[in-house]
Amino acid sequence: MNVIDPLSPLSFLQQRLTYMEQNPSSQWTNLLDNVPVWPSGVPKTESLSSESCRKLRSHYADCAGDLELREHIATKETEKFEGDLSAENVQITNGALHAISLVLQAHRKQCDTLVCQTPVFRGVTQCARALGYRVKLLPNGRSGEPSVLLALAQMNERTLLYLNSPNNPTGYTLSESEVAPLVKRAQEVKTCVLLDAVYDDFQYEAIPSYTLDLENLYVFGSMSKAYGCPGLRVGWVVGARERIKPLAARLETQCVSVNSEAQAIALCMLQRGNEELRSHCAAMRQYLKSTLPNIPQLLYQVPQAGLQFYAWLAVHDIEETADYLLTRNLTAFTTSENYEGSPGPYIRIPLGLPLETLQNGILALSDFFSSSASGHLRIERRKNEEVFHAFAS
Ligand SMILES: Cc1ncc(COP(=O)(O)O)c(C=O)c1O
Repeated sequence: MNVIDPLSPLSFLQQRLTYMEQNPSSQWTNLLDNVPVWPSGVPKTESLSSESCRKLRSHYADCAGDLELREHIATKETEKFEGDLSAENVQITNGALHAISLVLQAHRKQCDTLVCQTPVFRGVTQCARALGYRVKLLPNGRSGEPSVLLALAQMNERTLLYLNSPNNPTGYTLSESEVAPLVKRAQEVKTCVLLDAVYDDFQYEAIPSYTLDLENLYVFGSMSKAYGCPGLRVGWVVGARERIKPLAARLETQCVSVNSEAQAIALCMLQRGNEELRSHCAAMRQYLKSTLPNIPQLLYQVPQAGLQFYAWLAVHDIEETADYLLTRNLTAFTTSENYEGSPGPYIRIPLGLPLETLQNGILALSDFFSSSASGHLRIERRKNEEVFHAFAS
């Protein structure tokens, strides 16, 4: 049965989510979103009284964002990037994608091309195209590393460069030696690098630190992944003061300001920290690392960072397979359609979900590969590996 309509304007992820919502009596296993789930529920924000929340509801927030929240983020980013950051280096937005959109809008007069590290989350490329940008995809290497030389060759005053580290979906984390020459080139040709760091809190091997000059660099963050709270719709962009300042006026004309109550909750959560969530993700990554080898039809690299395993499946048609898993195994996965620059039959296995959800997801995959009904969807493992290596090299 086909759940997906390729002509629908909605993403495949959204269409599968809608399908589940329209069939509420089924016992779904939902692995669609790569949002980590707090092991004992999203923490309460007790320091924020209901009285102060009621007060917040009665006024518009500053269009640049709440001052204390911006100060907190500036301090947090100073630790990572070095340099003297203040609230004036931070703009609060309705999530990171909104921040990326505002920055793309701000550069649209000067720039007409967005060069992207791949794979790239389709939300970003669609946003760029909607604003009239041409999108160029940079091929990547075997471990997901972008070609710095190719990126350098593409950069000029008409292009912006979008990097995502840790990368969604590969988890590849850029080193300072990869980012620094790109930022330097941006300075030389008078353009900017956009560094989407929404998965930065989820590092499992080495924690990178950068000493980058923010003059030609924007860095994006969000509560959606780092605090498992996409419903808050609170994100931010950090950059040079003179580049950040005009973003507030742009945001004001588009939506006045970001929800004041959501910003207060975000501040409470940032002050509290996300240690449990990060430990949970690290533990679930270990679990998947030890369990996934039991399904030989999956090929993947253990992610060094980020929130998912990105697995190549031994199947002919990944969308048919995902629809089959949804309708027969009641298990929803997101496929490579969510990305550009990632051709092939991939699914992602989010690693921040509750153990039971992951166990059910793995069971569904094992059942799928052992069921004779799925035979027509399978291809030989040997052949897959050849294709995998041809693609990855
Ligand atoms: C790489 C990347 N950037 C940005 C976003 C958007 O995040 P937000 O919910 O903060 O808008 C996502 C969401 O999946 C993402 O994966």
